[in-house]
Amino acid sequence: MNDVYILAIETSCDETSIAIIKNGQEVDSLTILTQMDTHANFGGVVPEIASRMHAENITMVLEDTLRKSSVDMDRIDAIAVTYAPGLLGSLLVGVEFAKTLCLVYNKPLIAVNHTMGHILANRIDYEIEYPSLALTVSGGHTDLLVMESETDMKILGSSIDDSIGEVFDKIARVLDMPYPGGPNIEKMALKGQNSYKLPIPMNDNTYNFSYSGLKSYIINLVHNEKQRGNTINKEDLACSFQTTAVDELVRKVSLAIDNTGIKHFLLSGGVSANKYLRNKLKELCKIKGVTFHVPEFTYCTDNAAMIGCAAYPLWKEKKFASMDLNAKASESIKQYIEKN
Ligand code: KG4
Ligand code: ZN
Repeated sequence: MNDVYILAIETSCDETSIAIIKNGQEVDSLTILTQMDTHANFGGVVPEIASRMHAENITMVLEDTLRKSSVDMDRIDAIAVTYAPGLLGSLLVGVEFAKTLCLVYNKPLIAVNHTMGHILANRIDYEIEYPSLALTVSGGHTDLLVMESETDMKILGSSIDDSIGEVFDKIARVLDMPYPGGPNIEKMALKGQNSYKLPIPMNDNTYNFSYSGLKSYIINLVHNEKQRGNTINKEDLACSFQTTAVDELVRKVSLAIDNTGIKHFLLSGGVSANKYLRNKLKELCKIKGVTFHVPEFTYCTDNAAMIGCAAYPLWKEKKFASMDLNAKASESIKQYIEKN
């Protein structure tokens, strides 16, 4: 079979990214332009600014991706784009840009769910073995799945309220750390001890997660201590939060490994950049005799390479989108699986 080159576009949040992916697993070229510094001034992503910056920069990002690529537009087989979930205005910039490229260059369009992208980032330079357990942890989602193949998946459990990434960001903010909070909490946690006794989220035997109780407990704790004029040991609180939140994830993955007998594990999503989480899950897999895989750091947080990976199985099945494709702000992985 001829090599397949997919040009993929990702603009769901605050990264404008375009990649060219060969055969759904080799990164031929990738550009990621982050808006993080701009949004850091506001303590979080400002949707209106995000979409405007995507619109201003996307052509330049395309030029950069093509300049670094080994192929030109003529050799591209399809254009893939994230259509959901994310910030509506930001998604729309990517979707309309993708449609325009399809019309100008006469290419088919592939619509990709962002969370599927995170999961299938594991295909980059790696052969996934099936069945696999997959945990995806990002700013928007916390999902545990069984993957029978790259297209056949079943949800075991999800967060019933806040995602783990969202809570990392909120706790960082209450501890006066700049956006994005996750990496800053990780750095601060390295200097602290797990000394605060915090409520364990969703301490049950389901595969669901819940982080809003832990979040509210910490926010109240910080406010109460401030009101009393007491100082908070931020390093210790960051460490205690990270330990409590991550250990609960690890416990549920352990339960899933025991109950399903599955021998392969895949981690993904922005929060999987967290070394404490990676190491804990790696250790667990070693003990259980399960293979462990996580994408390289660059492919854990938002990027277009993962969108190209997730587009490839759709390309093989010729599941193309029509020119009336619209962006969708919310579409959980469960809704996506049920739809397909
Ligand atoms: O996957 P992602 O880039 O965007 C979404 O799809 O949401 O994930 C972003 C999330 C943010 O909540 C960010 O704080 C978190 O991933 N994150 C981390 C780390 N790096 C990014 N959380 C904990 N530790 C990190 N090192
Ligand atoms: Zn993401």
